[in-house]
Amino acid sequence: MTPTRNIVILISGGGSNMAAIVRAAQQRHWQQRYGATVRAVVSNKADAKGLQFAQQHGIATAVVDHKSYPSREAFDAELMRTIDAFDPQGQPALVVLAGFMRILTPGFVAHYQGRLLNIHPSLLPAFPGLHTHQRAIEYGCQFAGATVHQVTAELDHGEYLAQAVVPVLPTDTPDTLAARVLTQEHLIYPRAIEQLLAASAAT
Ligand code: GAR
Repeated sequence: MTPTRNIVILISGGGSNMAAIVRAAQQRHWQQRYGATVRAVVSNKADAKGLQFAQQHGIATAVVDHKSYPSREAFDAELMRTIDAFDPQGQPALVVLAGFMRILTPGFVAHYQGRLLNIHPSLLPAFPGLHTHQRAIEYGCQFAGATVHQVTAELDHGEYLAQAVVPVLPTDTPDTLAARVLTQEHLIYPRAIEQLLAASAAT
């Protein structure tokens, strides 16, 4: 029997992208079709709202609070240990960053190379880093969007797997633009993950 391909999702806050992925996994039968399951949701914040959604859906959760560790390396080492403990083979098939607001060390990224994904709320390579919507408005961009990408040691870089574009309206504030982009994130992130699962199931 092929082992289950475990997906571990990392969040820091609301977890709406995580919820979209969990819903897609259920509605599109990822377990039956690809042998894939959302095994756990891990947060660096104990009060991340998304943890409740995960628990209500019977998904294991864990918290690794970055404030309890003396260095990024020490935090990332514990994060890796926590993530890998959710997989009987010692490393999940995919680790999905979904609003996980920590910069990861090169050691962490190398450990999950090729199986670590992120969604960033801009049309990369424009606006890596923070305050993407405010910067897009200040620049007078007519379009904004989101990018799903493989994670490399360089922040918000790595092969793009999906992008979505939305208009920037003259009346937009960072919040209204963020909300418009977020609705698209909920579509492209599950779709990009499913494409990866389908591709690797076919090989
Ligand atoms: C999303 O817009 C995501 O793209 C962004 O945080 C939000 C999380 O929302 N991620 C980053 O900015 C990463 N640098 P969610 O918790 O509701 O999914």
